[in-house]
Amino acid sequence: MFNLDQFDIKLNTNFIGRNFIYAEEIDSTNSYLLAKENNININGTVLLAEKQLSGKGRFGRTWISNKGQNLTFSILITDKKILKKNLTLLNFISSLAVALSIENLLQLKVELKWPNDVLINKKKTAGILIQSVSSGNNLEKLVIGIGINVNQNKFTGNFNFPPTSLKNELKQNVNRERFLAEVLNNFEEILKHPGNVLNEWRERCHMIGDKICIIENNTKKYGIFDDIDESGCLLLKQDDKIEKIHFGEVSLT
Ligand code: BTN
Repeated sequence: MFNLDQFDIKLNTNFIGRNFIYAEEIDSTNSYLLAKENNININGTVLLAEKQLSGKGRFGRTWISNKGQNLTFSILITDKKILKKNLTLLNFISSLAVALSIENLLQLKVELKWPNDVLINKKKTAGILIQSVSSGNNLEKLVIGIGINVNQNKFTGNFNFPPTSLKNELKQNVNRERFLAEVLNNFEEILKHPGNVLNEWRERCHMIGDKICIIENNTKKYGIFDDIDESGCLLLKQDDKIEKIHFGEVSLT
């Protein structure tokens, strides 16, 4: 059971997580915050669920996570100024917030995989799914959904990338309340001062310079991961030309 007092005492934010919703069971924290009929509009609202019945992953996959052992939550953004930031940058801000929390609280080395996977020892410990609703050209609300494998020991099923948890890597249980507060503190801080986010992200991305394959809308592209640009797009080098990739899944070749 998640201890709200333990969490609250460590939360240092102004607005992220100040409106906090806790659910035992829900379909998906992302879907719940986005659904119009639920009428949740406070900027920075965080919804944490102990169990998601249909947790969503990127590329239409499902996110499976044992009840009560991990962190599955979404952050709601309705502030127009923040909504103007590009989505890729929000991916970087979120994954860096998780990475810094792991490094600072647990002293584990973290690797970031474009655009937003968080890896430890080449295994995935956290994934991020950003979704939004618009009316016409107007982005109305956006949710940053974060799934972190915290204290789960065993993972069964088929995974596109080998999973791990903080506990498996650290060889001891991790306090979920303290960890979530740290992620939200870091997220708000980086959001306020995003100046160095791309460099901090680059430092943790070990694929830059490697030969990669990227699947974008069912098409495979091969080349060298040259860099990321100022908006967070992946720059794929093929012979003499550089192609900007906005969306896709990267793997080493
Ligand atoms: C990925 O495919 O790597 C992204 C996984 C994102 C999972 C989180 S768990 C909380 C939030 N609610 C969802 O339904 N998905 C995200």
